[in-house]
Amino acid sequence: MIPTLAWTPEGVRFIDQTKLPLEESYVLATNYEQVADAIVTMVVRGAPAIGVSAAYGIALGALGTKTATAAEFAPEFAAICERLAATRPTAVNLFWAIDRMKRLFETLLAAGAPLAEIKQKLLAEAHAMYEEDIAACKTMGAFGAALLPQDGGVLTHCNAGALATCGYGTALGVIRSAVEQGKHIHVYADETRPFLQGARLTAWELIADKIPTTVICDNMAASLMKAGRIQAVVVGADRIAANGDTANKIGTYNVAILAREHGIPFYVAAPWSTIDLATVTGEDIPIEERPAVEVTHHGGKQLTPNGVGICNPAFDVTPAKYIAAIITERGVLRAPYSESLRQLEPLKK
Ligand code: MRU
Repeated sequence: MIPTLAWTPEGVRFIDQTKLPLEESYVLATNYEQVADAIVTMVVRGAPAIGVSAAYGIALGALGTKTATAAEFAPEFAAICERLAATRPTAVNLFWAIDRMKRLFETLLAAGAPLAEIKQKLLAEAHAMYEEDIAACKTMGAFGAALLPQDGGVLTHCNAGALATCGYGTALGVIRSAVEQGKHIHVYADETRPFLQGARLTAWELIADKIPTTVICDNMAASLMKAGRIQAVVVGADRIAANGDTANKIGTYNVAILAREHGIPFYVAAPWSTIDLATVTGEDIPIEERPAVEVTHHGGKQLTPNGVGICNPAFDVTPAKYIAAIITERGVLRAPYSESLRQLEPLKK
């Protein structure tokens, strides 16, 4: 299994996703600040992976406290949560995970639990999220596999794979599951400028699994669709609003429009922790603006002239009308999403 993140006796170990695919190296975070840095610098990235990483960051913060009682620790706990919440704004899984840890802490505090017990329970909660994430990916994979063709090309954008989760992946989980069922899928991975999650990460993990994969530049998708080489699109999500509008990696919206124009189904695969019913539409989703250097430079080399304007939004929002189905671990949802999402809400943890 791809070791995206793992708990060790020393702290959380991340495979360094800024170095893949040329170098397989690891970063060990021994305190919560280092976990926050790993999220900001994208050593670890992908909505479900950053959520679980933040949960482990909170556990590390609790384990490392110098306070002696739960009441003394409470303000420090709040500061730890605040630091981790300030890392990346778009993926709601981050806030979902932090809220879940906060709820647990508050319940234990109110019950008068000793600090030693709180530390162990926070760590156990992070472990539970880790396991649940893998299980959710496997379940949504099985649901989504039925939507993919028996034989054909499937386009994906960014990396919504094992590297973006605790294992198996969301969009790539659907593809993995289809392949395990004996379907002959050829994956087309958009390179995904500027961070190249598709060219570097999706390609790396699919090749490791021996799933036939071709990397294309982002601007090649329309031409391949027109040539009949793509039968379905499946992508992940960072936040799905109550009406089904979906934030995902910048460029996803382009792909959705192209798919519609060519009559190709465009699917979104995401765990329930990505669904944000408190956000009414995509207009309300905060979009992260990343440093200009990701666009101006590549491999340490400057590509653009000094003084030019640079725009680097990390995500865009695909309107729900372009989405053929949202694949979750609770089933495959169809439009109107404002209704299908609400119907499953009572199950929310
Ligand atoms: O900026 P990133 O690499 O964290 O963006 C990741 C994506 O957009 C993924 O598609 C999304 O988080 C889903 S991951 C299962």
